[in-house]
Amino acid sequence: MPDALDQPDPDWWRQAVVYQIYPRSFADTDGDGVGDIPGAVSKIDYLADLGVDAVWLSPFYPSPMADGGYDVSDYRDVHPQLGTLADFDALVTGAHARGMKVIVDIVPNHTSDEHPWFVEALAAAPGSPARDRYIFRDGLGENGSQPPSDWISHFGGSAWTRVTDAAGRPGQWYCHLFAPQQPDLDWRHPEVRSDFITTLRFWADRGVDGYRVDVAHALAKDLSEPLRSKPDLEDDLPLDGSDPLYDRNEVHEIYQEWRQVFDTYDPPRSAVAEAVSHPARRALYARPTELGQAFNFSLMKAPFGARTFGEVITFCLAEAAKTGSSSTWVLSNHDDIRHVTRYGLPAGTSYEAWLMTEGTDPVPDLARGLRRARAATTLMFALPGSSYVYQGEELGLPEVADLPAEALQDPTWTDSGHTVKGRDGCRVPIPWAPTPPAYGFGPGRPWLPQPATFAALSAAVQAQEPDSTLELYRRALQLRRRLQGAEQLDWVASEPDVLHFVRPGGWHCVTNFGDVPVALPPGQVVLSSTGTTVADELAGESTVWLTSV
Ligand code: GLC
Repeated sequence: MPDALDQPDPDWWRQAVVYQIYPRSFADTDGDGVGDIPGAVSKIDYLADLGVDAVWLSPFYPSPMADGGYDVSDYRDVHPQLGTLADFDALVTGAHARGMKVIVDIVPNHTSDEHPWFVEALAAAPGSPARDRYIFRDGLGENGSQPPSDWISHFGGSAWTRVTDAAGRPGQWYCHLFAPQQPDLDWRHPEVRSDFITTLRFWADRGVDGYRVDVAHALAKDLSEPLRSKPDLEDDLPLDGSDPLYDRNEVHEIYQEWRQVFDTYDPPRSAVAEAVSHPARRALYARPTELGQAFNFSLMKAPFGARTFGEVITFCLAEAAKTGSSSTWVLSNHDDIRHVTRYGLPAGTSYEAWLMTEGTDPVPDLARGLRRARAATTLMFALPGSSYVYQGEELGLPEVADLPAEALQDPTWTDSGHTVKGRDGCRVPIPWAPTPPAYGFGPGRPWLPQPATFAALSAAVQAQEPDSTLELYRRALQLRRRLQGAEQLDWVASEPDVLHFVRPGGWHCVTNFGDVPVALPPGQVVLSSTGTTVADELAGESTVWLTSV
């Protein structure tokens, strides 16, 4: 609990543990099978007890839910299925009363196709001002029947969809880098810019402490005619900002303007960019004059191994230091296969292909995956910077890979022509209790079916087991609060399969990535990823924290 006399800390985010709530899958109070804001309110004590510093809510705004709420039709309200603004206020008040911050998701690259601006644009004639907020173009070829460029949507197929004009004939095309129900905004339009400032202020005025900025790298596009082709460089964008769609230099002007808004609040509002760029350009988003922090997904992408983890950690700390930011660490989120399952699959597995086998080829070794996940998470919590925890990872939930096709709701499934299953397997509703049918998620049938294995993994069961993953997270976060000091890490020389670093104050973290036990370095073991009983050696695939004796 913060001391009421404490001054607001402008740097609270630098080493915070942020818990991501995917509201539809967190807790359902009204029995419609979809999680809601009152559900999140009902779990505030659970979150405070877990020991997180902040919660980040994935979108809860009015939305037709074509992309789980990342298709927003009103940026300044709550989806009626999820609650009301009063419910949201109760969440903020409850979190603040327990010393936790609240972060909301801002989705500026695109709106929903049901946003009033897009409805107006469709009703308006080609070339009219109402269409200028989006990216409408005539098609190429005979009768304009070809899309205006070769741009591809992230979910599959062309990034252009043709509309029907007022007389019922095929009309212009609009750009959508994601689903067709997510038309991209044209950020050169002054009203687009000013409306998002209004949205940022709206939530800050309601007490929100920070923002997660969705697809932060795509807002500025080169729309000069003729439209340029998009090089196939998703994973290695150019270093000079010359890609026509992603990570262009002009995007930073937008965030400089936002920073001025954040800094009118006390403490200044924080922000974290979800930005895909050349790794060496990620730091630009994290400049103190812009968003302040940027996600790096390098740890999540790194195979479990001492060398890979060591390299990623060194690189990310150096990148964050370039702009005076702090690094972010992520092992799971709502877009990727849960890390228990990733670590249980052979290195190099194509997750997309694996999901198409319903998770049967190969069969993951989930015991090993969990062991490694606990080791990796315990290491992550010892790093300087902020850790982002995705709901359910504290229960060691695996990916649900065998969801029946008819249950799938991720637009990736339909937009890819049923060739890519998508992200529903990490969005299955949380098991709070061991009792079917909904395992404590709510009184109704959950929007995605939960497997029977969720009973034993439920929070209520794990709360009774001292060596459970939930208890490991709790212990780790309590200790972290006590041990956390300056943002400094020094490597200690160790065997090839081992990573050992020390933080100021003599807080050591040692991970054995190998299969065979190694000798424990000197010190007092205060936490072990394997559980409460501590052996006199460091088990394979495990992490310990030690304090200097
Ligand atoms: C981000 C979100 C993802 C969403 C996409 C489009 O990557 O994390 O869930 O589908 O943006 O908004």
